[in-house]
Amino acid sequence: MVRPRHLDHAAWWPLRPEARAAWADALDLELGDPERRYAAGRRARDLLERATAATAAVVGVADQDLVWTSGGTEAIDLAVIGTARAAERRGDPRRHLVVSAVEHSAVLRAAERLRDEHGYALDVVGVDGSGTVDPDEVASRLRADTVAVHLQHANHEVGAVQPTDEVARACQRVGALLHVDACQSVGQMGLTLGHLGADLLSASAGKFGGPPGTGFLALGPRARLAPQLTGDERQRGRRSGAIDVAAVAAAAVALQAADRDLAVERSAREVARRHLRARWPEVVADVQLHGPLADAHPGIVAASALYVDGEALVTALDTAGFAVHSGSSCAATSGQPSHVLVAMGALTHGHVRVSVGPTTTIGDLDEFLDAYAEAVRTLRATVRG
Ligand SMILES: Cc1ncc(COP(=O)(O)O)c(C=O)c1O
Repeated sequence: MVRPRHLDHAAWWPLRPEARAAWADALDLELGDPERRYAAGRRARDLLERATAATAAVVGVADQDLVWTSGGTEAIDLAVIGTARAAERRGDPRRHLVVSAVEHSAVLRAAERLRDEHGYALDVVGVDGSGTVDPDEVASRLRADTVAVHLQHANHEVGAVQPTDEVARACQRVGALLHVDACQSVGQMGLTLGHLGADLLSASAGKFGGPPGTGFLALGPRARLAPQLTGDERQRGRRSGAIDVAAVAAAAVALQAADRDLAVERSAREVARRHLRARWPEVVADVQLHGPLADAHPGIVAASALYVDGEALVTALDTAGFAVHSGSSCAATSGQPSHVLVAMGALTHGHVRVSVGPTTTIGDLDEFLDAYAEAVRTLRATVRG
């Protein structure tokens, strides 16, 4: 039996041991509703406040400016739609948005909803062959009626890191908000809202070793939100509904552990990433590597191969004991090629994304490459008949 290798950290990062322990401890506390004033409620409130303070400190915002959500997708939805609707409520006439073409589908779908259902103008900025936007191009799209720019920090499919600081300066010049989707970077690349110069930052705990289905939106002083879930006044009226306090406590502990170990984890992953990039084209012909070598996420490597199907490759690699990803999560259900690769003008055929973790070894990657080369050979032989 082959030892299974998890090479899909960009989709889900295995629960960190500290987070697992914190989660179990929290469940043992028999937490009540943090809004209740009796003992079980006070225990929950106390734990929630401590988790919020710890998390807010890591991303550099005040405790009251952290909004817990059901994950990255909801945090993004709140950032995109919540900021626009808050501006509308103030009587602000601005109705223009800018996004990049390689955003996660959560950003793209939310922005398209504002365009299609609320009459917003939407500018989608293209990227170069490495998946990176030109900050001058983004700046040139800004208008007097631009409400917000939504730009990811690191791309989830090819690892390109966007020039958010230059975009932030351009946004400040015209008074537009900048929301950074940092779901792939928080806990992995040491970001704070202040360093980014952003007004909002969205994060997903399942991507830094916390519980999946938990995330947050961090807010700077200029950000205003209209709630998307209504029904009560929790979280200062920004997001209604019960909070899973035990999961939030585990997420906070995961983020603290990730932040503590960041330098070591990042450099180990960077070594693995460079090794994989260097060797990948050596093991198979007709392969195109994606994403930049520098200014990149430390753990993501992606490549396409001619004459093979990505999903068939994923299945063959799974049989060989390697968990990798192909296409984008929206593409996986739609059967469409990855919109990120299409925007880059890259080869979409036989796309495989490997995302390494801190414990991924060079030996694991060499074994992966052997299995990959074998799978490509077999699949190409089938295609050629
Ligand atoms: C860049 C990016 N943004 C947002 C998300 C959505 O996060 P979640 O799965 O927590 O909803 C993902 C998940 O893959 C992502 O990679």
